[in-house]
Amino acid sequence: MAEPVLDARGLTRRFGGLTACDSVALALERGQLHALLGPNGAGKSTLINLLSGDLKPTSGSIRFKGTEIAAMPPDRRSRLGIGRSYQKTNIFPAFTVFENARLAAQSRDPRPFALATDASRDPVSRDRALRGLELAGLHEHVERQAGALSHGEQRQLEIAMVLATEPEVLLLDEPLAGMGPEESTRMVGLLKRLASGHAILLVEHDMDAVFALADVITVMVNGQVLESGPPAQIRASANVQRAYLGHEDEHG
Ligand SMILES: Nc1ncnc2c1ncn2[C@@H]1O[C@H](COP(=O)(O)OP(=O)(O)O)[C@@H](O)[C@H]1O
Ligand SMILES: [Mg+2]
Repeated sequence: MAEPVLDARGLTRRFGGLTACDSVALALERGQLHALLGPNGAGKSTLINLLSGDLKPTSGSIRFKGTEIAAMPPDRRSRLGIGRSYQKTNIFPAFTVFENARLAAQSRDPRPFALATDASRDPVSRDRALRGLELAGLHEHVERQAGALSHGEQRQLEIAMVLATEPEVLLLDEPLAGMGPEESTRMVGLLKRLASGHAILLVEHDMDAVFALADVITVMVNGQVLESGPPAQIRASANVQRAYLGHEDEHG
């Protein structure tokens, strides 16, 4: 087995008396799309927040290519190559598509004045932004105002913004949420293209999309990993059937 890019062990986060993430082990490898399933409240977003650094773990370890990062703030993790998108849309609607991507690209630059420099004087961020937009399929929309994009295009822009930071790991929290069938198909195609060059963790409720895309599926229930393995194993698991797959309409 290849060395994981991101390797979490015993990852635990408590909120008062509630253990939202309970001794979770999860490994992400380059070239793999790893899907995270579980009912509403299972701890999926908490796990993403722990891996991105938006939340600090109560205990446990997270290694990125061998380096312990569990205590590292999110901006440093982003600069190491861990990119994330949020469950709720997170763009600057008044800016153009390109400006959104360029600001994201510059966030990888540790210089504090970087955000103030204009695009023409920062060719590296400009190129990163354009590559991210190209990869995400938005190259024809660079001059549009982000707030005028369709919902699906805005979610594509969020992926482009993550890609503009040139991450090795992509943590994607429900990128298909609220999409129509056509937009979903486009996003599934995008995720498929991205999987070959990245290590991806995808939280998604759309079972058809998950089973079409995932190399590995981890199912969480009540903060714990119920089962983890290739799609065929998850589909056949009596545990998963009982705890989760039989109640698909309850997901949120
Ligand atoms: N910041 C927080 N403070 C207190 N409780 C939280 C917080 N974030 C999440 N929780 C709780 O942790 C549990 C897991 O939430 P979450 O990770 O958002 O689940 P999921 O993404 O799988 O729906 C839920 O019971 C939720 O209410
Ligand atoms: Mg969530």
